[in-house]
Amino acid sequence: MGNKIGFGLYGSGLVAPFHAKALQASEKARLVAVAARSPEPRAKLAAEFGCKACATLEEMLQDPEVQVVNILTPNNVHYDQVVACARAGRHVLVEKPPAVSLREIDGMDAECRQAGVKLGVVLQCRVRKPIQAMKHAIEAGRFGRILHADTIMKWYRAEDYYFMNPWRSSRRAGAGVTIQHAFHYVDLLQYLAGPVRQVYARMTNLTHPRVELEDTLLAIVDYESGAQGVVEASTALFPGTDLRVEINGENGTAIMVGEHMEVWKFKDERPEDEGIRRLGDASQATAASGPAAFGFCDHQVVIDDMAECVHAGREPVIPVMSVRPTLEWALAMYQSAKEGAAVSLPVTDEEAAWG
Ligand SMILES: NC(=O)c1ccc[n+]([C@@H]2O[C@H](COP(=O)([O-])OP(=O)(O)OC[C@H]3O[C@@H](n4cnc5c(N)ncnc54)[C@H](O)[C@@H]3O)[C@@H](O)[C@H]2O)c1
Repeated sequence: MGNKIGFGLYGSGLVAPFHAKALQASEKARLVAVAARSPEPRAKLAAEFGCKACATLEEMLQDPEVQVVNILTPNNVHYDQVVACARAGRHVLVEKPPAVSLREIDGMDAECRQAGVKLGVVLQCRVRKPIQAMKHAIEAGRFGRILHADTIMKWYRAEDYYFMNPWRSSRRAGAGVTIQHAFHYVDLLQYLAGPVRQVYARMTNLTHPRVELEDTLLAIVDYESGAQGVVEASTALFPGTDLRVEINGENGTAIMVGEHMEVWKFKDERPEDEGIRRLGDASQATAASGPAAFGFCDHQVVIDDMAECVHAGREPVIPVMSVRPTLEWALAMYQSAKEGAAVSLPVTDEEAAWG
């Protein structure tokens, strides 16, 4: 086992095997235990990946080999679980969205700081190579003034997806295309082009009549920089096509489709541009047509980074407070759709978003 950092998984649902596979493949981290309420899935996961099975989070936190806990539970219960881990002196990687309220994000950050543990978020699309290339180019000023920053996510989820587990069809549990699926790509826009000044959003349910959630989001966004953009996100559009993240500046354009660079074109062509155009794998599925249709490589980058953080005492690649503006933007879109009017940030009454 050498120097590998020990990880425990809390939750044994859809995303858990992706974490387990990433840990299995890692040279920096190893899977020690899985804890979950349902005996059958946790036993199956533990048997498949050769780790311990625990009935409760508290039981797993008794194990000194568990140095980091990955929280893989419904979005509205993350807060209490992150706090329990922090108070037990464990570092935490929490799945996205880290919480469903700004108060919870602030609270979990404060608890982890007080306990001296790291808190990272699994928003693994941020570590994709095309996104990192865009980030570096923005920071280096290659785009010039950013004019547009958009995402288009035309995905498909059959109605049974929403009934696999009760929280998937509950808005207060953090379900709905805006806070659940599009959160990744809204986060990328926030990471690349944020902060946001104002949003105007419309939410509809096109093809999931038995579910009281939006399956489609359309939003117009004004960034503080003066750039503008759109968010178009849906789980209603059969068969589901690869998501797009597009940045247009006065001096160039970059477009990621799925996880590969589709367009990378600047007025000042540089020698490295040819290599950047080849970043990513066009054949890798990125969840457009089904909830488990994606790979674990991006998860592994985030997990390896957390293992390095524990060794080095540095902050994780996606610290929780870097996700706060994304959650605020999502809440502003819910509020805007509810009120039928543009909403300016900051969000002052987050309950207004849920209503
Ligand atoms: N990063 C990604 O690409 C990605 C993909 C899928 C899901 N997710 C995130 O992972 C998390 C889990 O999603 P999932 O699809 O695996 O969900 P799931 O419903 O398949 O599994 C949830 C797990 O949590 C357990 N659970 C349910 N309620 C609980 C409670 N109150 N307390 C403790 N445990 C509880 C369930 O028994 C199950 O083990 C969510 O935050 C989701 O947004 C992220």
